[in-house]
Amino acid sequence: MNVFSRRGKGLATMASLALLIVLLAACGAGGGAPAGGGSTGSSSSGGSTGAANGKGCTKVGVLMPDSASSDRWESKDHPLLVKSISAVLGTTVHVDYDNAQGNSATQLSQAEADLTKGDCILVVAANDSGEAAAIVAKAHAQNVPVIAYDRLIQSKDLAYYVSFDNVKVGELQGQYIADHYKEFVSSGHSNVSLINGSQTDNNALLFSKGVHNKIDPLFSSKALKKVYEQFTPNWTPATAQTEMEAALTANHNDIQIAYAANDDMANASIAALKAQHLNGKVLVTGQDATGTGIHNILAGDQAMTAYKAIAKEAQATADLVKALSQSTDPASLINGSVETSDGTAIKSVLETPVAVDKTNIATTVIADGYVTKAEVCQGIPAGTDGVC
Ligand code: BGC
Repeated sequence: MNVFSRRGKGLATMASLALLIVLLAACGAGGGAPAGGGSTGSSSSGGSTGAANGKGCTKVGVLMPDSASSDRWESKDHPLLVKSISAVLGTTVHVDYDNAQGNSATQLSQAEADLTKGDCILVVAANDSGEAAAIVAKAHAQNVPVIAYDRLIQSKDLAYYVSFDNVKVGELQGQYIADHYKEFVSSGHSNVSLINGSQTDNNALLFSKGVHNKIDPLFSSKALKKVYEQFTPNWTPATAQTEMEAALTANHNDIQIAYAANDDMANASIAALKAQHLNGKVLVTGQDATGTGIHNILAGDQAMTAYKAIAKEAQATADLVKALSQSTDPASLINGSVETSDGTAIKSVLETPVAVDKTNIATTVIADGYVTKAEVCQGIPAGTDGVC
């Protein structure tokens, strides 16, 4: 208006007025131009909303925690996840795989690299259940869903959680102790040591809860006596061995039950027991049904392990990846809900663990092809437990 009135005063010719009319018309259209640019932006962000939350996604990032705390991550989870996810997403699938080797900062940068590469669904077995919330936050900010794999991540923004019933894992271990401790204790000698996993792994807390559910009544009734309990940073087997040595030393080798939360720590505990010529005389528990764990059971040095069929866990994860990618209702896949520490219920798939000892190795882990006779029978006399 100011332009019009100023020019209106100085230039009264029809030509000038005509020019002004043209200019004003252009100005009106020009006023719309920036808005047009903005709407290009919003329509492109509308496009990414369409692709968000995994819809149409064929690029998946898979992140594992380490390769030192258990054989499973590299020998089972890695190949089975890649295979199952590839099978459900078809030929255009691209899976980025990384292992954080026990370092949460590494895992975060691996996730960031995946997001930069355009991965649109992340499957994360957290190195640390708390610290991995930063991964979920970054992914969530880009509308990329995260499936917490095996270990819960303490984030309300998780898409799903896939694991086993981990309290049940601990309960299988504890129930085994309750059912068999009498074969190992004698009057005045009923001492129990407990070596738990890493306190920064939510699973380790659940396993511990489960075993205590079953054996605390035996501590209360004085049938058993707890003489040692430790959590083990990073689930490091060498640390577990030091812990077992400390427990033996503090108790003058008077330990009859040695709870170890997984097979790698059981194997480390057995090394400490061997040094005192106590292997085979102490009830040792484990978890994961690793080749070494099953071998130790056949050798008579370990009593049991909790077998978790990882193929099922990987398949359940792949099924959820597919549901996200195809934007279908995952309700038929979900069989539970697990709460994060802030009380958020995360839709979950929880598979069932199975206790394995010398009586059912053949019908469980061998029958499933989870371990082979070749890998578990080395040095074991033919005919042992109907397996070798
Ligand atoms: C897993 C176990 C494993 C342990 C150490 C846990 O979170 O559930 O299977 O043995 O971590 O890696």
